[in-house]
Amino acid sequence: MKFFIDTANLDQIKEAQDLGILDGVTTNPSLMAKEGITGHEHILKHYVSICEAVEGDVSAEVIAVDFEGMVKEGEALAALHPQIVVKIPMIKEGVKALKYFSDKGIKTNCTLVFSPGQALLAAKAGATYVSPFIGRLDDVSTDGIQLIEDIRNIYDNYAFETEILAASVRHTMHIISCAHAGADVMTGPLSAITGLLKHPLTDIGLEKFLADYKKGN
Ligand code: E4P
Repeated sequence: MKFFIDTANLDQIKEAQDLGILDGVTTNPSLMAKEGITGHEHILKHYVSICEAVEGDVSAEVIAVDFEGMVKEGEALAALHPQIVVKIPMIKEGVKALKYFSDKGIKTNCTLVFSPGQALLAAKAGATYVSPFIGRLDDVSTDGIQLIEDIRNIYDNYAFETEILAASVRHTMHIISCAHAGADVMTGPLSAITGLLKHPLTDIGLEKFLADYKKGN
């Protein structure tokens, strides 16, 4: 399972990279705005800084919602750095853009996916990644993890190569559930990733080992 961090915060990206378990980064316009990264040129520069801080794929989202606009913007984003993956929304024009980029060998991440049918379309169009938003489904009393299981089943039936990127992961237990459900990738905040480290018995056990060691020294 690949681990992506879902932030535009360079310090957090570097902290996850330092852990040695990071496979990539996802961003979106809201995450950029949260870090105060606004204005086209500033945003493009920030994508390059993120790519320089990590080794894996970095999703950069298009703002255009028409096919021509998505192609123009996506090509410019892809030209920024070899690690850029063009993030395209699951709308009609987006499906066309996914196919266009897939035919050109440019990596894509189909975002804002909330149903198995949308995921099927993304795979048919050749998306590299499909991003089902599990947290936002949970927010509206719908089981986000069930969607991951449904997509896994559909993709396995036809050996689709599109990777299931569980997005909108909000907490540590989401990561565990995504792993059970067979997500290829998860993207979540640093707190959800570092939450995997924690167990009180580890802390108690280590404290005792260190105390016992000191008795003999
Ligand atoms: C990542 O690709 C998504 O944009 C992100 O995970 C959405 O997360 P949110 O639902 O917490 O905003």
